[in-house]
Amino acid sequence: MLKGKPFVKWAGGKRSIIDKLIKLVPEDFNTYYEPFIGGGAMLFELQPKKAVINDYNKELINVYECIKDENKFSNMCSELNKHEMNHSEEYYYQIRNLDKDKKKFNRLIDYKRAARTIYLNKACFNGLYRVNSKNEFNVPYGKKNKVNTYDGSNLGIIHCLLNLFDIKILSTDFEEAVKDAKKGDFIYFDPPYDSDTSAFNSYTENGFDKEEQRRLAKVFKEMDKRGCYVMLSNYNTVLIKELYKDYNFNYITAQRNIGAKAKDRKIVEEVIITNYNKDED
Ligand SMILES: C[S@@+](CC[C@H](N)C(=O)[O-])C[C@H]1O[C@@H](n2cnc3c(N)ncnc32)[C@H](O)[C@@H]1O
Repeated sequence: MLKGKPFVKWAGGKRSIIDKLIKLVPEDFNTYYEPFIGGGAMLFELQPKKAVINDYNKELINVYECIKDENKFSNMCSELNKHEMNHSEEYYYQIRNLDKDKKKFNRLIDYKRAARTIYLNKACFNGLYRVNSKNEFNVPYGKKNKVNTYDGSNLGIIHCLLNLFDIKILSTDFEEAVKDAKKGDFIYFDPPYDSDTSAFNSYTENGFDKEEQRRLAKVFKEMDKRGCYVMLSNYNTVLIKELYKDYNFNYITAQRNIGAKAKDRKIVEEVIITNYNKDED
């Protein structure tokens, strides 16, 4: 089967390092769990027959659900064509500001909300998804004269993947998302990253601080005890070294675009932590 690729640009997206990640995936496993799915690079590469995917970001998960559903999918694409035709700075802010009136926004039909999420991602500055504490999308206009919001054949591949295989889509907290994982299942945790200085972690209105990193490490250990294969990506910070000191560290360097300014685009040391050994080819 052809492989899909992320349909949104997502901070921390794994597409650029996917070859390195894949080499560390266990040979064999039962259900695949990805509790921080984001743009879905790993899911699309792995194409597991059975999976549970999740993200706390409800707007993003709504897009996955709309791509899966036949009718919503075609309505969403028509809506995207409309956004492409109407695209301008004024139009961008008109669509962006829809979430300011929460009552009205919550009544907006799901495929229109999904198209809005994709359009904003393609038309905003640097393809970032960022919300403020009121959960309002707050990335400025990207100053592009023309936007291509989707690649129909790519979305078609993802639609098939989500329908042909047994893929459960959730939007909850990561701890809840993995609660049914069993021995022999494979979990890939790709959380918002920790930082020794400052970090971009505004994918959701709640953020993801050091306490959240500690809570995640506890869940990692619980899943390890359960007999799951567990893999986690993060930066190689003081806290991460301490939290996962009993596990295997694989080091990779990656170019990360985490902010609007050139100084935020730097080479950083990333780690992939596993509770199992796998020799790279
Ligand atoms: C580093 S990104 C994942 C990137 C993804 N692997 C990719 O390739 O695009 C982290 C994701 O975690 C989500 N997130 C933040 N807090 C969460 C939580 N408590 N539970 C589940 N997901 C959460 C964010 O919405 C974001 O999409």
